[in-house]
Amino acid sequence: MSGETSKMTDAPGWLAAGLPHVWLPYTQMKIAATPLSVARTEGSRIVLADGRVLIDGIASWWTACHGYNHPHIRQAVERQLAQMPHVMFGGLVHEQALTLAGRLAALLPGDLERVFFSDSGSVAVEIAMKMAAQYWINRGVRGRTKFVAFKGAYHGDTTGAMGVCDPDEGMHALFAGLLPKHFIIDLPENDEKAAALERLLERHADELAGIIVEPLVQGAGGMKFHEAVVLRRLRTLADKYGLLLIFDEIFTGFGRTGTMFACEAAGVTPDIITLSKALTGGTLPLAATIATRKVFEAFWSDDPRKALMHGPTYMANPLACAAANASLDVFEQEPRLRQVQEISAALAEGLAPCRGMPDVKDVRIKGAIGVVEMNHFKHLDRLRARFVDEGVFIRPFGNVIYLTPAFTIGQDELATLTNVIMKVVKEGV
Ligand SMILES: Cc1ncc(COP(=O)(O)O)c(C=O)c1O
Repeated sequence: MSGETSKMTDAPGWLAAGLPHVWLPYTQMKIAATPLSVARTEGSRIVLADGRVLIDGIASWWTACHGYNHPHIRQAVERQLAQMPHVMFGGLVHEQALTLAGRLAALLPGDLERVFFSDSGSVAVEIAMKMAAQYWINRGVRGRTKFVAFKGAYHGDTTGAMGVCDPDEGMHALFAGLLPKHFIIDLPENDEKAAALERLLERHADELAGIIVEPLVQGAGGMKFHEAVVLRRLRTLADKYGLLLIFDEIFTGFGRTGTMFACEAAGVTPDIITLSKALTGGTLPLAATIATRKVFEAFWSDDPRKALMHGPTYMANPLACAAANASLDVFEQEPRLRQVQEISAALAEGLAPCRGMPDVKDVRIKGAIGVVEMNHFKHLDRLRARFVDEGVFIRPFGNVIYLTPAFTIGQDELATLTNVIMKVVKEGV
């Protein structure tokens, strides 16, 4: 039996009492193993309620870039909690949000300088799409409401965002009729695919608001990497056909691929960028959609109908903004990007032996992302439980086993993660 189920007898009372009332993400509740009960987190460790300690290879869906419970972030949030946990952002502003907006504008390339806050990645994507569509409406151009997006993409689970996900990932067939239709095509990774994209743009430019892409890494769609030249091609084509280019850096932002933002590696400035996940160092929900001056100017008017009509209740939450400001302090004070390079080298070395093992299709590394792609998994739930039995938290999906650790992970901890993957892959998954 798996470690997850065999420990049910030690389960805390709140688990048995609450589990019948909770609905878990991406989970067939009828047949799923009992989820692990977490008591606390520290650094790259997850401490379970039954006392077991797991080394975390995922950093809580790629958020906890400084490890869990970084004291600087914790103290900033505690101070803010005492002063003002929340205040609405309609008609009111506060220091943490405005300071953060200025810092993000200064960090991002080009004139990405107008920050619209929200509370999750999917919502940041919805806002980016709405911004792009209204950009055209405000300029008096009708009918430009569709987007070009890419196979393998993942931009979130809300309805608008699902429409620009990979058709399988976004379950376009299941939700046919609900999802708006966009143009989903191969990334322009070679001349042939670039020509196909250009033909599509030629035919449909006057229906299109923009192009949306995850720069360098398509994350939840399979941890697929592409070269920076792809992003430069997209910039050239977007300019040629007058389209807005949106980079979804919700996964790649804040150092994950080796530079602070993936767009820097390509030397490309998008018209709109979305950020979330590591924005608060993995502590509180916050997202941002940031526009260039050109985009913002289309909304700058004496006409109130040209305002961006969006405003999540908890947008720019002061606790979350304080956490994000503190996370940016930590990026300034601690050598995160150097740590990413070191992790990259350790992942390359530690996962290399998986190449050539039975059923291994590919091993690839970019920044602090290590991927072992398999032909297929025989039993995903058993594989996940197997990792827990080995004392690590790794959450394979699709046909990939991947690591996206905290940038502060210890060398020994990282070696344990790669050794366990090697052992488990060797035994057959
Ligand atoms: C690139 C990208 N965009 C959007 C999202 C959605 O973010 P959230 O889960 O916060 O809604 C994700 C989440 O994995 C993501 O990786």
